[in-house]
Amino acid sequence: MELDEVVCSCLGVTNGMIKEAVDAGASTLEEVQEKTGAGTVCGACLDDVQNVIEQCVTERDK
Ligand code: FES
Repeated sequence: MELDEVVCSCLGVTNGMIKEAVDAGASTLEEVQEKTGAGTVCGACLDDVQNVIEQCVTERDK
């Protein structure tokens, strides 16, 4: 995963920002949205955001 790749272009949220939110304890889309705002504007990135969250949670919890 490229940490500086932008996932949510509305807010410029990167993979790394989502990973940071997950490492800080967020596990669900809602929790990551609270911390980063990802996917809260147009919603087009929601599937991608969800995928990144799942990957990061798996990494974190293994
Ligand atoms: S690209 Fe993420 S809310 Fe628009």
